[in-house]
Amino acid sequence: MPKIHLLDDRLISQIAAGEVVDRPASALKELLENSLDAGATEISTLLADGGIRQIRVADNGGGIGKDDLPLALARHATSKIKSLEDLESVASLGFRGEALASIAAVSHFSLASRAAGSAHAWKIESSGDATSAPEPAAVAAGSIVEASDLYFNTPARRKFLRSPQTEYAHSEETFKRIALSRPDVRFALTHNARAQWHLQAASPHGRIHAVLGEEFAAASLPVDVKNMGLRLHGLVAQPAYSRSSRDAQYFFVNGRFVRDKVLAHAVREAYHDVLHHDRHSAYVLFLELDPALVDANVHPTKIEVRFRDSRGMHQFVFHALEKALSATRAGRTSAGEGQPASSPAPFRVDGGLFRQPSIGGLTSEPASFYATLFGAAGTDAAAAFNRSSAPMPQDEEHPLGFALAQLSGIYVLAQNRHGLVVVDMHAAHERIVYEQLKTALDDDGIPTQQVLIPATMTASALEVATAMENPSTLSRLGFELAVIAPNALAVRSVPMTLVQADSTQLARDVLNEIAEFGGSRVLAERQNEMLSTMACHAAVRANRALSIPEMNALLREMEATERSGQCNHGRPTWFQVTIGELDKMFLRGR
Ligand SMILES: Nc1ncnc2c1ncn2[C@@H]1O[C@H](COP(=O)(O)OP(=O)(O)OP(=O)(O)O)[C@@H](O)[C@H]1O
Ligand SMILES: [Mg+2]
Repeated sequence: MPKIHLLDDRLISQIAAGEVVDRPASALKELLENSLDAGATEISTLLADGGIRQIRVADNGGGIGKDDLPLALARHATSKIKSLEDLESVASLGFRGEALASIAAVSHFSLASRAAGSAHAWKIESSGDATSAPEPAAVAAGSIVEASDLYFNTPARRKFLRSPQTEYAHSEETFKRIALSRPDVRFALTHNARAQWHLQAASPHGRIHAVLGEEFAAASLPVDVKNMGLRLHGLVAQPAYSRSSRDAQYFFVNGRFVRDKVLAHAVREAYHDVLHHDRHSAYVLFLELDPALVDANVHPTKIEVRFRDSRGMHQFVFHALEKALSATRAGRTSAGEGQPASSPAPFRVDGGLFRQPSIGGLTSEPASFYATLFGAAGTDAAAAFNRSSAPMPQDEEHPLGFALAQLSGIYVLAQNRHGLVVVDMHAAHERIVYEQLKTALDDDGIPTQQVLIPATMTASALEVATAMENPSTLSRLGFELAVIAPNALAVRSVPMTLVQADSTQLARDVLNEIAEFGGSRVLAERQNEMLSTMACHAAVRANRALSIPEMNALLREMEATERSGQCNHGRPTWFQVTIGELDKMFLRGR
């Protein structure tokens, strides 16, 4: 066994760099965040070859004094927090004191800065190892940070870099996120000596218009809701807005762009009732809350957060958006056409409310109903159901009993031996689909099915690049996507269980997840998030009227599915009201 020894600092930074700056876009994000933390009101960015050859960020922020310059490049050196308490309520974007050390360890790096009040600027340089002593430099105000030849000294990492166009697509996306987060700051971006973006300081809505285009702006509704120290504001696209190639799903928590499962789910749920199936939701939303209620120190690139009260956050976001979107239901806008029925389905009494449906009525339903709900598995459930003798609530085999009716387009009411069973049909179906996908992926990959007529979708450069680079990840998830133009993709195959879902919306969500986290992470530690997103798309929507046989098929699938008692987001999928409880409610002695 070789002896144990300490790693030298440079190697530690190179290892850390793998996590913090996994591609030029991540380095760019760190530099832009540093400029914002320094109070800059003007930031100009220059990239060459997507950031691989050069990233240069110049700002007019507070700058760094001569004596602090070498510290800025040291690991675990930060001016932003001092104690654990500071960390727990951190309001700055940076706090680890790790970004510059990581970038400097894997690039030719220079930092020139002029602190407010100093006679001139000072500059230090590093080339992956020793840092030079500060030398006088000419900078009018603020800082200029430059990182060239990223990963020049870590060839293994360099191999993972994609083409300059792909890296530029990622970098530009990073730039847009940061620009959206701070409308009060002026931003410019130049790539390979060509000016790409010039954004003047603007109101939040003005910035959204500038970054996402007029089409989005014209189709969106303002949201601004405050409640108990929480605020959610921004723009959400009306349901009829079809996302163009500038697709837009941006969520910021205290100014930080995040991908969060709880928030994404709340948005999806809010759109569920109003979004026509071939439309894509689009939004730029800012959630503001006491920093102590959210932990940003969860992920190396801080893209994930953890809320102290995630259920409360879900409720708040869901209700705020549902209210904003409900305005569209009244036909207030031109977006009204093609909308699903806005009022919830009325209480349906199929086969009589207090009577079990007769078996004759059940068998006369074509088995295709089950198939639409559950694919091939549903047909089995249907067959199993039809084989069973007359449905008796006492039936031990069917603990969830038999369907009586659908309530409010959302709940299935069923009767079992204990009394009444109430099922949240969307949550239950989502769980079932999720478990099916999970089992399939753990086996051989999700079985795929070619679509008869491939659906085409407009796609951003990043989406196209992601599709080109990740065919095997996509295929394991059951997708085949083809690039048909620089800004268009065709969805040729989709997961068999999800043929009913909107294939382009589904593909887009999967691509975004892969673009954000990388194919291998999506299949490894983010697998459950990915599958739960996919399942949510496929799950039966609220307001879809179900027939009694469909409802029974759902109950049977729930019984057959492990962990079907909770949806993927931890909410219960059903509960029981016993006859005893009903008797008590009606003060009825037995
Ligand atoms: N553009 C800048 N203007 C002024 N000071 C800066 C700038 N960039 C970095 N600094 C200083 O250098 C320090 C180190 O930056 P670095 O990005 O490595 O760490 P951090 O921002 O504190 O934390 P994190 O690793 O989470 O980003 C910062 O704390 C800040 O004091
Ligand atoms: Mg930083």
